Amino acid sequence: MRILFVCLGNICRSPLADGILRHMAAERGLDWEIDSAGTGGWHAGEAPDKRAIAVAKKYGVDVSMLRARQFTRNDFAYYDKIWVMDAQNYQDVIAQSTTAADKEKVDLFLNVLHPQRNVGVQDPWYDDALFEPVYQQVEEACKEIIRQFSESN
Ligand code: 4NP
Repeated sequence: MRILFVCLGNICRSPLADGILRHMAAERGLDWEIDSAGTGGWHAGEAPDKRAIAVAKKYGVDVSMLRARQFTRNDFAYYDKIWVMDAQNYQDVIAQSTTAADKEKVDLFLNVLHPQRNVGVQDPWYDDALFEPVYQQVEEACKEIIRQFSESN
C-alpha cells in the first residue's frame, strides 16, 4: 500500500504522521510506502520543524531525515490513500484532482478514528503547546490505520 499524508507546510503534522506510521510499519514488517507533502511549497527541502522532531524523538520516532516537498497532481496516480490533516488541505488537494478515482483516494486523516466526522488535526505551527496533543492524536490514528489495513489484524 502506498500512503501519502498531506498538510499545509509539510513540516509539522504530516511529517509526524509519516514518521510514526513508517516506524509502526517497519516494526511489523509491512511493505508499505509512506510519504508526506504540503499543499504549500514554502518549506520545500527543509527538515521538519524542530518542535516536531523533538516530540517524535521523545517517543522514539526519528523524523529528522524527512524533507518537505509540495503536493503535486502526479501524487494522485501513485498513491493508494491520501490522508489530509484538515478541511483546507482537503479543499486544496481535491481542487487538483481530475477524476473520481483521484477524489476517492482523499480523506481527512482523523476519519480513520471518527468516520465521516471530518475533524481536522489542529495546526500546531503557532502554538508550541499543541505539539504534544497533536502527536498523541496522530499516533492514535496511525494505530488505527495499522489495525484496519494490515493483513495481520
Ligand atoms: P504544517 O504546519 O502544515 O502542519 O506543516 C505549518 C507549517 C508552516 C506553516 C503553516 C503550517 N507556515 O505558514 O509556514
